[in-house]
Parts: sequence; C-alpha cells; structure tokens
Amino acid sequence: MCGIVGYIGQDNAKELLLKGLEKLEYRGYDSAGIAVVNESGTSVSKAKGRISELRKVAEADDQDGTLGIGHTRWATHGVPNYENSHPHQSASKRFTLVHNGVIENYEELKNEYLSDITFISETDTEVIVQLVEHFSNEGLSTEDAFTKVISLLEGSYALGLIDNEDEDKIFVAKNKSPLLIGVGDDFNVIASDAIAMLQVTNQYKEIHDHEIVIVKRDDVVIKTLEGEVQERESYTAQIDAADAEKGVYDHYMLKEIHEQPAVMRRIIQEYQDENGNLKMDSSIIKDVAEADRIYVIAAGTSYHAGLVGKEFIEKWAGVPTEVHVASEFVYNMPLLSEKPLFIFISQSGETADSRAVLVETNKLGHKSLTITNVAGSTLSREADHTLLLHAGPEIAVASTKAYTAQIAVLSILSQIVAKEHKREADVDLLRELAKVTTAIEAIVDDAEVMEQIATDFLETTRNAFFIGRTIDYNVSLEGSLKLKEISYIQAEGFAGGELKHGTIALIEDGTPVIALATQENVNLSIRGNVKEVVARGANPCIISMNGLNKDGDTYVIPQVHELLTPLVSVVTLQLISYYAALHRDLDVDKPRNLAKSVTVE
Ligand code: G6P
Repeated sequence: MCGIVGYIGQDNAKELLLKGLEKLEYRGYDSAGIAVVNESGTSVSKAKGRISELRKVAEADDQDGTLGIGHTRWATHGVPNYENSHPHQSASKRFTLVHNGVIENYEELKNEYLSDITFISETDTEVIVQLVEHFSNEGLSTEDAFTKVISLLEGSYALGLIDNEDEDKIFVAKNKSPLLIGVGDDFNVIASDAIAMLQVTNQYKEIHDHEIVIVKRDDVVIKTLEGEVQERESYTAQIDAADAEKGVYDHYMLKEIHEQPAVMRRIIQEYQDENGNLKMDSSIIKDVAEADRIYVIAAGTSYHAGLVGKEFIEKWAGVPTEVHVASEFVYNMPLLSEKPLFIFISQSGETADSRAVLVETNKLGHKSLTITNVAGSTLSREADHTLLLHAGPEIAVASTKAYTAQIAVLSILSQIVAKEHKREADVDLLRELAKVTTAIEAIVDDAEVMEQIATDFLETTRNAFFIGRTIDYNVSLEGSLKLKEISYIQAEGFAGGELKHGTIALIEDGTPVIALATQENVNLSIRGNVKEVVARGANPCIISMNGLNKDGDTYVIPQVHELLTPLVSVVTLQLISYYAALHRDLDVDKPRNLAKSVTVE
C-alpha cells in the first residue's frame, strides 16, 4: 500500500527517488509521483499506472535538485488519476506533501479552516498540505505550521513535506503508518520500508507516532509535539540488498516459492540450540504456557497460517485456541478468557487491521506475541514479544514463503509449550521439519508438473474449487486465495463435507475441483466428496500424500508428519496458481487492486 521515499543530500534526487519507488512497487499501488526542489521552485511529475510511466514523464520534466520526495499511491479517497496522485501541493505551490494513511477528520478540517480554498483532488491528503499553508499564512514558521497540523489530524498517516522556500529540510511525521529515516554521510532519506533506500544506506532511525522530524542534509532532529528534542540511535537494517532482487527468476513469486527449503533450514537453525534442542526466549515460553486460551489475530494468508497453527497449539500444546480475522475482531470482540494471550501473525508486521486489535489488547493489558518477518515493524515493537520468521524479504504480493515460515514457527512454539506443559511429545519436530524441507525441494523440482496441472485444469476456466477436510481444508483456503489473487479466476476453498449443503449447485461440466487428500482419517470421505462432484461433471485434480494415494491421483506429495502436510501441499498450490496466472499473461508479482502491506483499516 502507499509508499513514501524522500532524499536530501548532494546528489540529484530524481533518480534516487525513482529507484526507491521501484523498490516499493511490491507494496501495491496504482499511481505514482515525485517532487524535486531547486532554485526555480518545486517541480512535480505524476503518472497513473506503473513507475515506468512516471519515469517517462519525469525524464521529460526538468527536475534537477538535491531535495525531493516520492510516492506510490494505492487509491482510497478518489480514483487513481493524475489529480489524486501524490505529491499534492498547497494553493500557492509553496508546500508539497506525500502521505500514506487515511485522515478521518479531513472533512471537518476542510470546513473549519479551508472553506475559501479550491481543491484540485478528491484526497484527504490535499487538506493536510492546504492546512500547512493556511497556518503559514497566519504567520507560523513551516515547522510550527506542520506541528500545528499534526496536532489536528485524526487517523493514520506517514507524511513527508517540503517547502520551496527552504531547500534544507524535509518535515516528517507519522501515526500508525510506517516511516523510517535513513541516515547517510552528508545526506539523509525517508522511506516507508528500508528496502527502498538500501541503495544508499543501511542505517535507519525509527520514528514514534506523533513525533515531528526535521530531516536535513547533515542532521536529523526528532521532537515531541511539545518541541522536546528526542535522541534516537540508528540501527543497521538486516536486509541484504541482493535478497530484494529477482536474480535468475522471472518473478519474485517464483523465487520466493523456490526459497522455501532454504527458509525452512534457516528456521530450524535459528530455533535450535547447540545440543540440537528447540530453543526460544524463556519469557515467551512462560507467557504462552501460562495462558488459558490463545487468540490468534491475522489477515489474509497469515490468517490461513493461523488456522493451521491452531491445530498444533491445541493438539500438541493443549491450549484452547481461537483464530480471528483482525478486521472483524476489532469491531466484534468475543468473550475473552481470564488469562488470554494474543498472537499476531503478520508477514509485514504493519497490517493496520491487526494493529488496531493490538492497540485494544494493549489497553486491556493482555500479553501479546507477534510472529513477523520484519524485525522492528510496528506490530513487533508494540507487542510484548516477537518471533521472527527469518524468511528474507517477501516482495511478491501473493505471500508464499511467509506462510510456510509462519506455520513452521508456530509448530516450534507449540512443541516448546507442549514440553513446558509436560505433554508427551509424539513428534521429533526438528527431524520432521527436515523431512518437510526435502519434500518441498522435491515439489519445487517438479515445477513443470505443476505447470502441466495448471494447463490441464485452469487454462480457460472462470472458476475453480478447492476442497479438503480438517487441516487440508485450511490449506484449500490458502490455495484458493493464491489462485484468485494472481490469476483472477474465481476460486473458493470449501470443507469437503459442506459442499453438498449448497456449493455443489455451482458444479458444471468441466468445473475444476482441486482436492487435497493428505489426512488418513478423512481420506475416504474426501474421496467420496470428489465422487460427488465428478458425478455432476467436475474435472477433479487430486493431490494426495504418499501412503494415502490411489490410482489416478493427479499428484502425490512425499510423506511427512500428518500435521505438517500444509507446509508441503501448499507448495503445489502456490506453483499451480503461479503458472495459471503466467499462462494468462498477468502481472504475477503485482496483481491488480492488491497491496502487499495493507496499512489502512
Ligand atoms: C495483504 C496481502 C496478503 C497478506 C495480508 C496480510 O492483503 O496482499 O498477501 O496475507 O495483507 O499481511 P501481513 O503482512 O499482515 O501478513
């Protein structure tokens, strides 16, 4: 979702901003723009569509200057078009602003302070920049006007403001939305994500909500709203710039699918002590083990990982567990147990829906643990504990390696808590995860088989069904999400037994039904469900597990521990979805309308 970059230094800002925005493309956007300041004022270039479009426009514009801001916009207020794209300017064009987030009281502010201003866009953002000018016209310095505006805003925001009468500063603030300051030698940058500016620095400073930051070429001054200066150390972003490149792969998604065995190995290594036992911070083990009920909160793919995690936590650790969609939970909290523990699962650690729940549970004083791929992310900072996924940057919008990493980390947590509860372990988890790693490798090596399955079952279809029972049902939800996200095929995941209570009415001649059969206790019943749909004309694709397979199955995954099958079966579905989208000539890594990191509620 919206991305922000900014540069103030000695070099030409334009190319650095464009490169930075290219690195943020993965977050999802539908228009983009940059603004560069020089002696002749602020020059703004904007374009609907991809950064490549913006590049064409920007190259034609005269934009030499060593101070600039850039933005990728994912439309919330107003359609994606030139006027609504950022940066936005004040009436006199003195002030220029980029914004990520949603201002809830922008109508009120507009009515109260800006009734004589003609607005160019439909955005909430334009209100902010016009307000800065309004207070500046009343005689406030830019810093004071910006501070005053921040004190009036309600909602979420990450902001970068420039003033063409002051070529030495970018004014920055945030609330709920992510924004970092990158620190360099004789230059400084701002970025929604360190990845954007790794090209120039790996040193970053965090900003807290409601702080005012003045970024200069040789200094970064962080203040509270009351003007008190805050000291803040910088940290080194632990991302290898090469990890954020596609390398030999055609798409990030394919690269990330292929990386899954390596991620499994890294997780096994990170959560293992020198004696080969599972390890985890003792304060995490204590808090999880003391909980009388666990509430897993997440969105999208992370929610699906949570559904699988519940199986481990209940079956191995013996703790009752509920899994909730964050955006629902925040408005409709169930009755909580006496000693709940909240687990937030989030690849990015920035999802606004999940954060809204964390803010509430923090207010209630409940313990929390974030499972995330991004150290230092908002959910990580604001929860009591963090477990890292160690998956490396995930760039493709459709999440793949984060899902399997989340499940692996949840399995480790569950086994450690099982031990703490003195529950007998029926599984040597590290050994089983090693088997899983080999199984994923075998599937990735069979990529051409998955491509053939995509051709045989999904080439021309408009819809597809995924069915499974018990844990396979959870994976079918994720499989259908992958397919719909990137191929735009209408896909749904169903519990096999539920089909005949309604959905079977949709089965027609040739409807693809992808059935997972990796669980012994439901092997016969899921196959029975397949027969039911075949009798109505469906084209069945059965993905089973070695040992449970039958003649005619479409693909057989290697045998792994029954509860760990999601880690393996999902890889077949990821690859099938990838090829289905590829064959439709779609932009696999950047599907329409979607954002990688959804930072607005
Ligand atoms: C967006 C992404 C999904 C992701 C979901 C949750 O919708 O497109 O791929 O699963 O957000 O993101 P999180 O970063 O919290 O795991």
